[in-house]
Amino acid sequence: MPKPKVLATRPLFEAARAILDAACDVEYWKQPERIPPEELVRRIKDKQGLVCLLTERVNDELLYAAPKLRIASNVAVGFDNIDVAACTKRGVVATNTPGVLDETTADFAWTLLMAVARRIGEGEALARSGNWKGWDLDQLVGTDVWRKTLGLVGFGRIGRAMARRASGFQMKVIYTDAARVAEDIEQELRAEYRDLNSLLAESDYVSLHVPLLEETRGLFNAPRFARMKPTAFLINTARGPVVDEAALVHALESGKIAGAALDVFENEPFIHPGLKRDNVVLAPHIASASLETRTKMSCIAAENVVALFSGQRPPNMLNPEVLSGS
Ligand code: DGY
Repeated sequence: MPKPKVLATRPLFEAARAILDAACDVEYWKQPERIPPEELVRRIKDKQGLVCLLTERVNDELLYAAPKLRIASNVAVGFDNIDVAACTKRGVVATNTPGVLDETTADFAWTLLMAVARRIGEGEALARSGNWKGWDLDQLVGTDVWRKTLGLVGFGRIGRAMARRASGFQMKVIYTDAARVAEDIEQELRAEYRDLNSLLAESDYVSLHVPLLEETRGLFNAPRFARMKPTAFLINTARGPVVDEAALVHALESGKIAGAALDVFENEPFIHPGLKRDNVVLAPHIASASLETRTKMSCIAAENVVALFSGQRPPNMLNPEVLSGS
């Protein structure tokens, strides 16, 4: 029997290729630049499977061009690049890679928090510049992290991993989410629930850990920044469009907040020029980018595809109803 044809929009990691190649006839997009949408549409035509990145849009147009497609396997936990309803309508299984990147992403969110509080970007630039004149009392003084208040917007796996890190810094942890979590979880993580506005008023550091949904798009807008302390910092490792970037720039310029540390942007890879300021730490969407974690994510994406073509239910289905009855 011929192997199912799969398009992978990246060569992935070796371990993931081994999983895919054993069961599928895989075409890998190997160019260094991301696959252009028209190339994706051209190459998907005869494929039964797709392994894609968050930079590819799986929408009606793509699905229309892929009559044989049975699975779109995203190498990411966030899946705002996939129109899941459109996949369901056409009987295409959509999958993601939850669970393996939480600690790595929290490590990086923590790194950003520390970097903006302690002015690492500015310090590093000065140390490399050749212009450092030596120690001085008020040189690059930053802000303490320990014993401050951390506000977590979104208290899923990554938000909770942040709470665990905060306890080592003797921080007060408050969180907000669509629903309050069980009391034993609050107790274990020493986290207190707040509504969003109270959290903004109280937090020294506000860290975002929500998915991009219609309800969270533009959640951080001018009125929300106005509620934050002028000494507070925003950390975003979730999704860029959760923050209205123009409003953030205005909040930074007008001193409504003290600074920001950002791994994600509204229109990646474009970065608003107003964000290129000393009190903003910028990173190019790399929060989950450890070799271990990106390898695991790739393997999970491969396993989802192989499961489907072996007659099993892929472990990370976003639309399980597509296979209901099978
Ligand atoms: C995701 O998985 O959604 C991240 O943004 C990339 O790891």
